[in-house]
Amino acid sequence: MLTRQLAAPLRRSLPSTSRALGSVRTFVQPTPASHASVQDVSPVPPRGPPSQSQAAEAAAHFAPSSQMLGFKLEVPRREESTLRPIYLDVQATAPMDPRVLDAMLPYYTDQYGNPHSRTHAYGWEAEKAVEVARKEVADLIGAEDKDIVFTSGATESNNMIIKGVARFHKEKRNHIITTQTEHKCVLDSCRKLQEEGFEVTYLPVQTDGLIRLSDLASAIRPTTSLVSIMAVNNETGVIQPLKEIGALVKQHRGVYFHSDCAQAVGKIPLDVDEAQLDLVSISGHKIYGPKGVGAAYVRRRPRVRLEPILSGGGQERGLRSGTLPAPLIVGLGEACRLAKLEMAADHKRISALSHRLISGITTQVSHIVRNGSATGYPGCVNLSFSYVEGESLLMALKDVALSSGSACTSASLEPSYVLRALGAAEDMAHSSLRFGIGRFTTEEEIDFVVRRIVSVVNKLRDMSPLWEMVQEGIDISTIDWTQH
Ligand SMILES: Cc1ncc(COP(=O)(O)O)c(C=O)c1O
Repeated sequence: MLTRQLAAPLRRSLPSTSRALGSVRTFVQPTPASHASVQDVSPVPPRGPPSQSQAAEAAAHFAPSSQMLGFKLEVPRREESTLRPIYLDVQATAPMDPRVLDAMLPYYTDQYGNPHSRTHAYGWEAEKAVEVARKEVADLIGAEDKDIVFTSGATESNNMIIKGVARFHKEKRNHIITTQTEHKCVLDSCRKLQEEGFEVTYLPVQTDGLIRLSDLASAIRPTTSLVSIMAVNNETGVIQPLKEIGALVKQHRGVYFHSDCAQAVGKIPLDVDEAQLDLVSISGHKIYGPKGVGAAYVRRRPRVRLEPILSGGGQERGLRSGTLPAPLIVGLGEACRLAKLEMAADHKRISALSHRLISGITTQVSHIVRNGSATGYPGCVNLSFSYVEGESLLMALKDVALSSGSACTSASLEPSYVLRALGAAEDMAHSSLRFGIGRFTTEEEIDFVVRRIVSVVNKLRDMSPLWEMVQEGIDISTIDWTQH
């Protein structure tokens, strides 16, 4: 297979060539060449000595081939790009598992038919592959395959479900319930509905990020059509108790239960019947699958009615018109199959790495707060560092790809609304970092990140007058900072 040929030397050569180069330059944006840029970063940790043959193999594979085309293009050699920052941002997106790409490729090159073509073998084989994938997705969440609708990702699934259910039931029910810590695409779908005249309750969360079931119970009204509560929070890893929520929601006839499970599917066990879920949103690229594909679980028995957002050919039970992207769907199916097979092993490894990271940092640096609950998903660790300025922290950590609790908007640097909802002070939200640990994260990478965090936080604190005061035993919370 093509990917095996490419991926094997790539995997073997990456660690060795990065060491061989010993350089501190990174090619950060390989394409298009005209937009390529070079950034200074610290060296990544060495991962084993290179052999000469490996280096030669890599050079042969990735040397610029533009001369062969009759012109000279200044594209950095491929091995330079191996010195990229360490990737700890898997909640943003995860690298695709090479096995997923293997499964997808034939549907780009040989079996490229439209799965909706009914008159020839190209269509039939693509349709068959789509249906196999549908079953893999369904199996991962304990659903029936016919209940799965393919979409472009969790954003689309959330929009389709929230707007679709609310609009379908608007005559009798005009109220929906969600939480303050949902992903933007849920919150913005709700805001859109408010503009259309719907009423929305945004449940608060406690300091551990969990909703109070009593708040939910008292928020449900006779006019409520939908309760939408995410499974795993993308910033804090907090896991909401879906089973208890489902049991509560189902005490009320006619109220549907939806969960945005973009960060939960494939990471923690999830069963739509156990949690009494009617609707679920799934994303491909969070589970080592391709970007641009996802799914919605829409229960057929008892039937959930929703108004489709897209008009067209009526594919996917009329809920999502448009030609299905067979290669992407095959990739999603394979990612789900692998996730089911490897969930327990992944979880064990990721838990150990998470523990290594947290204990590595907290045994060497004081005044750190873990945002969210310690019983959340271990692959998402959100820490705030007191007496450190958030922006400086990120700037100094260029060799680690991380997300921070400061959301950069065009006009201002706003602290994360999720952390604020948990009660974090503005400065603590600003100085937070989210460490995303995934299937391909290694111990060496975690150890490197621990070393970098310890050194950077200590350095920044050494420059901070506030930190100096704390060291002198002054309780700075008692200081009146107003000028008299
Ligand atoms: C909790 C959650 N919901 C929804 C989304 C959107 O997913 P997608 O990129 O598939 O549209 C994300 C992605 O960041 C997420 O973390």
